[in-house]
Amino acid sequence: MSSPIIVFGSINMDLVVYSDKQPAKGETILGNSFETFQGGKGANQAVAISKLGCPVSLIGKVGNDVFGDELLESLNSEQVGTSLVERHEGPSGVAFIYVFEETSENQIIVISGSNEQVKSNQIPDKELSATDVLISQLEIPPSEIEDLFIRAKKSGIYRILNTAPALKISKNLIHETDLLVMNESELENLTEQTIERQNTDSIGQAIKGLNLSTTQSIAVTLGSKGVYVYANQKGQFIDGHKVEPVDTTGSGDCFIGALASQYLESNDLLDSVNFANKAAALSVMKRGASSSMPTLKEVVNFQ
Ligand code: RIB
Repeated sequence: MSSPIIVFGSINMDLVVYSDKQPAKGETILGNSFETFQGGKGANQAVAISKLGCPVSLIGKVGNDVFGDELLESLNSEQVGTSLVERHEGPSGVAFIYVFEETSENQIIVISGSNEQVKSNQIPDKELSATDVLISQLEIPPSEIEDLFIRAKKSGIYRILNTAPALKISKNLIHETDLLVMNESELENLTEQTIERQNTDSIGQAIKGLNLSTTQSIAVTLGSKGVYVYANQKGQFIDGHKVEPVDTTGSGDCFIGALASQYLESNDLLDSVNFANKAAALSVMKRGASSSMPTLKEVVNFQ
């Protein structure tokens, strides 16, 4: 196996309903369409990396159900390395996604299924040490992420943690991460501070509360507005790109996958964030999560 980038994360079958508007509590409305997509934050990030032409392996679990078969087939067809994806005797993870077409906003409920069974020991030390970048998110057990990040540190691997969905995590897991990536509500959850939306002073203030070391960085995504990057104890705002959004599901995953693949190339965080910003803008113009990830050519030719 051994790829320069490893994603340790979730794999879901996304069951997506498109409707004009959001129903009120207790209301039934008629929707516009229904589609299924391969999703899960981990799998989406791995597909984003692969679509950009970088070899990537995914560590995760799918169930022994028909979704598990379909998810593996789809990941293989996207050239994601799946030799460390195990089958669990139980159901695969699923995500119920509602996309409201008037605003292109979504709501997501995830049922973890096999993702709850993902273990750090699915990857042996020898294979882990051959990688350069390790990425994870919080749809698999945080204690297993912490264990893997501690193991990865011994080999000097760059560890990226996407703190989504917004869960409580240990101080040590934050300490064991080189780059944290999150949106504003996830930053509020992590810092237990209220943030004035899209206000960089307020975001910078909240970040200070994390007491990051000089070698740690953080990227806070602000949707279409852009990204706030904090590195070397300094914050910087990067503008977003104006596009017509169709479906924003997975745009955060696209951002992380693209950032990691560019970081592998340039070793430069700001350059990587700029690249990822373009990739994420392209991803919101298509339906689905993994299915909306752009190619390298598309990102390079964008604007
Ligand atoms: O980030 C988008 C993803 O969140 C979806 O693909 C869904 O599976 C949930 O994990």
